[in-house]
Amino acid sequence: MGKILVTGGTGYIGSHTAVELIGQGFEVVIVDNLSNSQERTLDGIEEITGVRPLFERFDLCDTERTEAFFQKHTDIDAIIHFAAYKSVGESVQEPLKYYRNNLVSLMNLLDAMKKHGVQGMVFSSSCTVYGQPDELPVTEQAPIQKAVSPYGNTKQISEEIIEDFLKAGPALNAISLRYFNPIGAHPTGLIGELPLGVPENLVPYVTQTAIGIRKELKVFGDDYDTPDGSAIRDYLHVVDLAKAHIVAIRRILERKQKKNYEVFNLGTGRGVSVFEIIHTFEEVTGVKVNYVVTGRRPGDIEKIWADPTYANKELGWKAESTLGEALLSAWKWEQYYRDHLEKAKQ
Ligand code: UD1
Repeated sequence: MGKILVTGGTGYIGSHTAVELIGQGFEVVIVDNLSNSQERTLDGIEEITGVRPLFERFDLCDTERTEAFFQKHTDIDAIIHFAAYKSVGESVQEPLKYYRNNLVSLMNLLDAMKKHGVQGMVFSSSCTVYGQPDELPVTEQAPIQKAVSPYGNTKQISEEIIEDFLKAGPALNAISLRYFNPIGAHPTGLIGELPLGVPENLVPYVTQTAIGIRKELKVFGDDYDTPDGSAIRDYLHVVDLAKAHIVAIRRILERKQKKNYEVFNLGTGRGVSVFEIIHTFEEVTGVKVNYVVTGRRPGDIEKIWADPTYANKELGWKAESTLGEALLSAWKWEQYYRDHLEKAKQ
């Protein structure tokens, strides 16, 4: 089938993608430095798939270590590169940490790709590259806007690095996937998002509030120019998102790309407000979420949702799950995980 290096494979999207890859018969090797994830995610992957992926813990910014890895695994066919820092707020406080980590690791991988005959890379990009678009839904042709945070800038620069790199090496291939807002967890509830400390993202904050770890959810602004005043995003189920990576990997391995560098939006095409998230969560779980409305969060945009037509047509991929299913899976995971933590303490 093929041997795929999944960097950041113990992380949120990486672990779900590893599960889908294994399910499709790919051999998976995970590299992660565990800076924002836990090794026991491998147990969850194994429990779901019956296969424990190979795992190596190291930092992809370490050039020599990365080179040694590729000398050992000479048969890697393609890379899915998730490993990166992703906190918008932290990136404003510590910009160099973000530029160094997110860009050096990418360049090390690209070097290795060329040197060791790896066919291509699927790169984790983000709808953050569009800023607040003038036209909605947003297509891949929308102009890239100046990034509001160093984190967002690392995604823009990474895409440029990849594109330039491929221009100089036309035999190499890559696909950037611009994710909208991934939420939810594997339906088994055995893997999911594991925010360290206080969550910054909406859905983990909702589930932690519902389970009683947080007193109340702060809704960042109800004075936006949207139907209910709260901000709008395009939330997609992480399992749907993971599946898109399999399609992208096949497209590279089967040489079906139209150009050696392609970009796709991955979203549902539907904009959902913060209040809708709260209400749908309450509806599907029967659990109330305490919330207060506070001021807007600096750097937040008002509204964005994807035009996923290109991915639908060209990749034959579509986000299938409903918002309710995604939120229910997030809740199942929160409960499983807390229960596990309690048991581990006893
Ligand atoms: C942000 C980044 C995105 C990044 C993602 C990764 C921006 C514009 N986007 O997405 O590039 O890939 O994080 O982590 O910086 N909200 C609340 N209360 C909360 C948390 C969030 O009301 O406690 C609201 C936010 O204001 C926003 C929505 O919920 O309207 C989603 O927020 P979040 O989950 O943090 O994602 P983004 O900000 O869209």
